[in-house]
Amino acid sequence: MEVGHIPVLAEEVMSMLVPAPGSLQIDATLGGGGHTERILEATDPDGRLLGLDADGAAIARVAGRLHPRFGDRLVLRQANFRELGAVARAEGFGEVDGTLFDLGLSSYQLADTERGFGFRAGGPLDMRFDTARGVPAAELLATLSQDELTALFRRYGEEPKARRIARAVVDARKTAPIATAEDLAALVERVAPPNPRQTGRRQPRRTHPATRVFQALRIAVNEELDALQDGLAAAVDLLRPGGRLVVLSYHSLEDRIVKRFIAAERRGCVCPPELPVCVCGRNPRLRLLTRKSVTPTSAEVEANPRARSARLRAAERLAA
Ligand SMILES: C[S@@+](CC[C@H](N)C(=O)[O-])C[C@H]1O[C@@H](n2cnc3c(N)ncnc32)[C@H](O)[C@@H]1O
Repeated sequence: MEVGHIPVLAEEVMSMLVPAPGSLQIDATLGGGGHTERILEATDPDGRLLGLDADGAAIARVAGRLHPRFGDRLVLRQANFRELGAVARAEGFGEVDGTLFDLGLSSYQLADTERGFGFRAGGPLDMRFDTARGVPAAELLATLSQDELTALFRRYGEEPKARRIARAVVDARKTAPIATAEDLAALVERVAPPNPRQTGRRQPRRTHPATRVFQALRIAVNEELDALQDGLAAAVDLLRPGGRLVVLSYHSLEDRIVKRFIAAERRGCVCPPELPVCVCGRNPRLRLLTRKSVTPTSAEVEANPRARSARLRAAERLAA
């Protein structure tokens, strides 16, 4: 079956970014290129877009699909958005009108049976966006201590049964490595089964019991929260006055970072409140565009269940 990635909150992203003809835009998380395609259409005939993805397969797929149509208006680079500043400057995108982050993973990755992102697709437990860097998830499961695994499941998955699951991982690996997504999903299902009250006919179970553990491992493997912090800082540096930053996040850990980042950039000054005058000299750099985060309509969620947990926040760069 052909998998595709439906861009989330596409209309809302466009109304926040307001990409105009002739403008320079960055899509820091290219994925299937759905948002990129819309931005390039809106910036016709001469707007340009730099698309980044840590996943080489995403770059190759979008290049094949969109380069024939948009030519050199679309510049693609395989890179982590932690390196956004250097990559953008090297490609002539040192001052841009808009930057989009659509965090997490794409439907292509989730359906990939070779990378172990999802318990439904299965496959070897790798979970790296960039398969040439870092440590696969199976290696973390094989080497971290029980305490370290507990902390990881708690911190990045907010998993209430973290200790029980970590103990089961350490027990299981004495017999055989936990090498596949199927192995891990079955283990979690066995030691932390779903609450029967959430699985009745009236209230169908919405999430697999291993969802939080998979999320935690993926965040750890890709150092996603640190990357987000670095990527946002680089993005604001690159925005010209009036330029827009738009971020779509999919869980509370990401959303909290985005919210706090924008709040700090609105405030500017980082001096302790007891100081009578500002000595840090930092000025506010962002104006908030979304007082509350924007979420998808129920019609969108019905058409695209991946959109369910999406939250959009946006801000505008102030003049220096
Ligand atoms: C939700 S998808 C983006 C979907 C895209 N907006 C679309 O409409 O098709 C997120 C993408 O971001 C990439 N990604 C996640 N973290 C990244 C990072 N730190 N640096 C670069 N790419 C990253 C993933 O590999 C994935 O392809």
